[in-house]
Amino acid sequence: MAEEWVETAAFEALKDGRLTPVFPKGLPALLIRKGNDLYALENRCRHMGCPLAAGTLDGYTLQCPCHDWRFDIRDGGLLAAPEIKLKLYPAEVRGGKVFLRIS
Ligand code: FES
Repeated sequence: MAEEWVETAAFEALKDGRLTPVFPKGLPALLIRKGNDLYALENRCRHMGCPLAAGTLDGYTLQCPCHDWRFDIRDGGLLAAPEIKLKLYPAEVRGGKVFLRIS
């Protein structure tokens, strides 16, 4: 698939610190707003694929609801083994809308 920027949610509709699942082109993605910063990650745990949107966020640490693996949302790295990473989606806000680059 070629790279493509896909519109997802309105930035202002994202609540600070809330885990918001979106599905650009049917892919499971997760948006997290922290103040004016935005993080966009794969919404699928690297362990057994649980949806991370059902997890919990503490600061920049996202904990999977299934077996408690914890990831840093800033780089997607698993805290216990940072070489294991969630996919991060490049994200931009244009005209108040969040776009993710899908490839
Ligand atoms: S599926 Fe996430 S920790 Fe097991």
